[in-house]
Amino acid sequence: MSSTKVIVGGTIVTASDMYQADIRIENGIVAAIGSRLDAAGAEIIDAAGLYVFPGGIDPHTHLDMPFGGTVTADDFESGTIAAAFGGTTTVLDFCLTKRGEPLSEAVRTWHAKAAGKAAVDYGFHLMVADAGEQALRELPEIIGREGITSLKVFMAYKDVFQVDDGTMFRTLQLAREEGALVMVHAENGDVIDFLVEQALARGDTDPIHHALTRPPELEGEATGRAAELAGLAGAPLYVVHVTCAQAVQRIGEARARGLAVYGETCPQYLTLDISSLEKPDFEGAKYVWSPPLREREHQQVLWDALSSGTLQTVGSDQCSFHFKGQKELGRGDFSKIPNGGPTIEDRFTLLYSEGVEKGRITIHQFVDLVSTASAKLFGLFPRKGTIAVGSDADLVLFDPSAKRILSADSHHLKVDYSAFEGMEATGKPVSVLLRGQFVVRDGEFVGQAGCGRYVPRARFGARTPISVPEASAGGRGG
Ligand code: URP
Ligand code: ZN
Ligand code: ZN
Repeated sequence: MSSTKVIVGGTIVTASDMYQADIRIENGIVAAIGSRLDAAGAEIIDAAGLYVFPGGIDPHTHLDMPFGGTVTADDFESGTIAAAFGGTTTVLDFCLTKRGEPLSEAVRTWHAKAAGKAAVDYGFHLMVADAGEQALRELPEIIGREGITSLKVFMAYKDVFQVDDGTMFRTLQLAREEGALVMVHAENGDVIDFLVEQALARGDTDPIHHALTRPPELEGEATGRAAELAGLAGAPLYVVHVTCAQAVQRIGEARARGLAVYGETCPQYLTLDISSLEKPDFEGAKYVWSPPLREREHQQVLWDALSSGTLQTVGSDQCSFHFKGQKELGRGDFSKIPNGGPTIEDRFTLLYSEGVEKGRITIHQFVDLVSTASAKLFGLFPRKGTIAVGSDADLVLFDPSAKRILSADSHHLKVDYSAFEGMEATGKPVSVLLRGQFVVRDGEFVGQAGCGRYVPRARFGARTPISVPEASAGGRGG
């Protein structure tokens, strides 16, 4: 079969444009965009009635991640196959590190987890556990050599991942010097630890107490503190998994002061609420995330923040643990429930269905939130995150009229439940191309484990170079 393809009859949608045109793909990149393109010798793909979106970029995943004495149910193989079915062609996963362990060792470990397994392209963010001499020496080299241009600090998970404010500040300073973006899990871990201890001592051990011991005030406080320290360091900051009005307010205030503070929310916070943690028979454990699901009124605040631009991205925070045998580790003690859930596959469709279909965001905001903004923030644009001549042909052929019920019976993850079980969704990625090759075609997986490539990324604010094929200059960009 020819590796040159022409997609005909589809409606191209980017973060800024919507128009009908053909797309010619050569050598994995978009070679031309226009009407009635020459299709001689090419495979013709009919996209009539479909939107053609840039491939989704998921800026927040945890695949094959150890946590709470166990390891996520989904690894780079099952997780990225599910991502592909869901319209995501690039994932940015968190490379965890341990205090005292060389960072290069952790990066090697993460490469080994992904190589030969990933079915979509991937990059890494690097967790910073300490900002001692060794880490500060290694970081500039890893940022430059590996193209790992985003760092992660946790303000929660005391005695596991949490760092103190001094470490966070030093990381921010280094990020400013090296052109990296610091990502932060913003919750006040010290106070949470205290509240958890008190709850367990009272005998409050059910899953709902996970949420009650992590109130939104502690997310707001930590978000404000992180923004303030970023401002002082003169560094950009990206707040992951924002869940509540208190955090949105702090991000909005920082941005109004001109600080480079960005925020991400996740599909679970837009669609589920704290009542899920009260499901009987310990089922509430399926809905244990940190920060936790909130009271329903926070959802409107999050949608408004996506629509107004106070928040810039929607990441999945994919971090799945089986209900049987993994979430169950926390029976009788909610603090032992592994945190996280399965979201990588439904992120794209849920944002379309709950966002565009319900009139909460425009279709261009949708593209920006699931793809373009992450490409820009994380040094992938314009190679990825848009449909333009010279960009990677990472494309989603999306049927906006398909209706389906989300369920563990039909998802492609290994994990034994769906966080969105029974939810009706409008829209479906029908076919997905990664660098011009189908990974999903008419609802079937046709890619292979290992077809995903590692993508080194440009420094914060810089663009990835692309080259435009000569004969095609003049095609429309997005
Ligand atoms: O509950 C969550 N979010 N689990 C994944 C780890 C993290 O904090 O992002
Ligand atoms: Zn987190
Ligand atoms: Zn996470």
